[in-house]
Amino acid sequence: MNKAVIYYSKTGHSKKIAQEVAIELHVHAENVKENPDIGEVDWLFIVGGIYGGASDPHLINYVSSLDGDKIKNAVLITSCLSVKMKQDKIREILVEKGIKVYEEEFICKGNFLVIGLGHPNQREIRDAVRFVRKIMLEKAEQPVKTV
Ligand SMILES: Cc1cc2nc3c(=O)[nH]c(=O)nc-3n(C[C@H](O)[C@H](O)[C@H](O)COP(=O)(O)O)c2cc1C
Repeated sequence: MNKAVIYYSKTGHSKKIAQEVAIELHVHAENVKENPDIGEVDWLFIVGGIYGGASDPHLINYVSSLDGDKIKNAVLITSCLSVKMKQDKIREILVEKGIKVYEEEFICKGNFLVIGLGHPNQREIRDAVRFVRKIMLEKAEQPVKTV
């Protein structure tokens, strides 16, 4: 089962989360700014922040360039201050490409300037890793819920 972790990060939170998730999955976290070639993937984990209510165009463009025939499933892990915003545009693009997107999206608290300083903390990053571990265990037992 091929797995890949990609991230877009302006201030480092998504990078940190992606790196911990990658350790859990025994892969390398790839920065979309470097336009990584991820090849054929069974499970693609996409970690990104929210800026002005949306995903960054770098990540949107990268995901738009993916070949839907090469990626089976995707999981979204989102970092934002409000803990309410999701990577809606990214999900929409993946679904349009015929990639199955895991229904639940993990949202990790971030910060903006001094608001929310200290987030994501170690516990929150650990929870993101647990979320990924849960999906991988679930996958080993039964077909996953997708939209
Ligand atoms: C320029 C900028 C705009 C942001 N806009 C939002 C926003 O609209 N909603 C929100 O919940 N968080 C917002 N945030 C907070 C970030 O989503 C949060 O800190 C996230 O963890 C950043 O991820 P990163 O460190 O990987 O770039 C913003 C942060 C920055 C720097």
